[in-house]
Parts: sequence; C-alpha cells; structure tokens
Amino acid sequence: MDEVTVTVRANGPYKVIGPFTLVDAEGQELVLPEGSAVALCRCGRSQTKPFCDASHKRTGFVADDTAPRLETRPVDRGESGDARSS
Ligand code: FES
Repeated sequence: MDEVTVTVRANGPYKVIGPFTLVDAEGQELVLPEGSAVALCRCGRSQTKPFCDASHKRTGFVADDTAPRLETRPVDRGESGDARSS
C-alpha cells in the first residue's frame, strides 16, 4: 500500500517520506517514489523553500512539536487538481 508519512522534526523541518507528488505554485511537479524523503521548511528561513536548507539551526528556530487533534474533512481536487477542503 502506498503511504505518505510526515514527521515533525523537533525544532526543524517536516520530513516527508513518499511516494508523493509535490506541486509548486507554478504547477511544476516533483514526483518522489516510494521510500524517498524530503525535508520541508517549517521555520520560514530556508533559501530553497519549500525545502529545508538547515537555516533553522543557524537561526535558532524553536517550535511546539505537539500536534493538536484536528477534525478532518474530505478534499475536493476540482478541475485544476488543486486540493481544497470542502
Ligand atoms: S526548517 Fe530547516 S530551514 Fe526551515
């Protein structure tokens, strides 16, 4: 079964393990096969967003790493394929 795992790193990025497709704001796709991983910036300081470039270490990024429980909703991908909560 294909499954994506997102792990919040303490005071660091989101580690995402594929398979998954990352679509940037211009619609360009980065397809990552099963078992591959990327780190997505959570601190906002990366020069290579959306990817982490380790700037969080230099800037002393600190975050609350406990995720609150959220209500989930189905996603409507619409004609453009963009995911939207319905
Ligand atoms: S989380 Fe690493 S640079 Fe932002």
